Amino acid sequence: MGILDGRVAILTGAAGGIGRGCARRFAEEGASLILADISSDGLKGITEELDSAGFQAVPVVCDVAQEAQIDEVVNTAIREFGRIDILANIAQGGIADMEYLAETSASQLLDAYTTGPLQSMLFMQKCLPHMKERGYGRIINTASHLALRGDPGFAAYEMAKGAIMALTRTASQEWGRLGIVTNTFLPVIRTPAYDLGEQLKAAAEMIEASNPTGRFGTAYEDCAPVVAFLASESSGYLNGQAIGVDGGLTLIA
Ligand SMILES: NC(=O)c1ccc[n+]([C@@H]2O[C@H](COP(=O)([O-])OP(=O)(O)OC[C@H]3O[C@@H](n4cnc5c(N)ncnc54)[C@H](O)[C@@H]3O)[C@@H](O)[C@H]2O)c1
Repeated sequence: MGILDGRVAILTGAAGGIGRGCARRFAEEGASLILADISSDGLKGITEELDSAGFQAVPVVCDVAQEAQIDEVVNTAIREFGRIDILANIAQGGIADMEYLAETSASQLLDAYTTGPLQSMLFMQKCLPHMKERGYGRIINTASHLALRGDPGFAAYEMAKGAIMALTRTASQEWGRLGIVTNTFLPVIRTPAYDLGEQLKAAAEMIEASNPTGRFGTAYEDCAPVVAFLASESSGYLNGQAIGVDGGLTLIA
């Protein structure tokens, strides 16, 4: 018996490092899955991986910057499974589009917001009626330790992730009485995103060297179990929280 038995979950960013690890873990815990990502090849990969392990998942190619494509994901979940219990907003665009604050352009900030807090809010709003109808929902958003620390050179990304934390807190206060709890996690996890440029490669080396656990955590083993817990019935009294899944890295200066 899995902790997500009988539940229907939408996962965005499902073809990426963390999304893929979460998709596998959610499937093993019994959830029916709608997997959304902009990468059709990546979605094919995770869907085939799940299929060969005996799990079914419905892939939907979706650019989260396009509201009509968000509608399609939500409509597919209702058409295929008739309900939505869990929304895991993991996708984020512009991860490699780094800039110092003085050089950050309006279009970089808009892109980070469109593919971060704006799309997360739209997914939440569109799932709300379905969760409200059953008096049950688990919403998990994805922020970053960088939004807490303000590390130099990631300005637009950090602002977008800060907004996601604020969005999470607002939903927790407005929707808690509906049986819907909303939390965010702040991962520091080895994924392909760290191969996207020199600045990220350097960050990965720093994490390897200084993580208090002595290692750089991985998506399936270290992150997905925490996200699966947030998605489970047992997390019903956890609301509006920001959970670092980072081995304690964020505590060091
Ligand atoms: N890995 C870390 O240490 C770390 C640290 C802080 C925050 N995060 C956050 O965790 C989440 C997952 O990151 P990851 O490390 O797995 O990165 P990743 O690059 O491996 O995965 C990101 C996924 O999002 C998808 N995506 C990007 N733009 C999209 C769009 N417009 N529409 C739909 N899908 C889109 C990509 O195709 C990819 O599959 C992101 O929100 C990221 O900001 C990760």
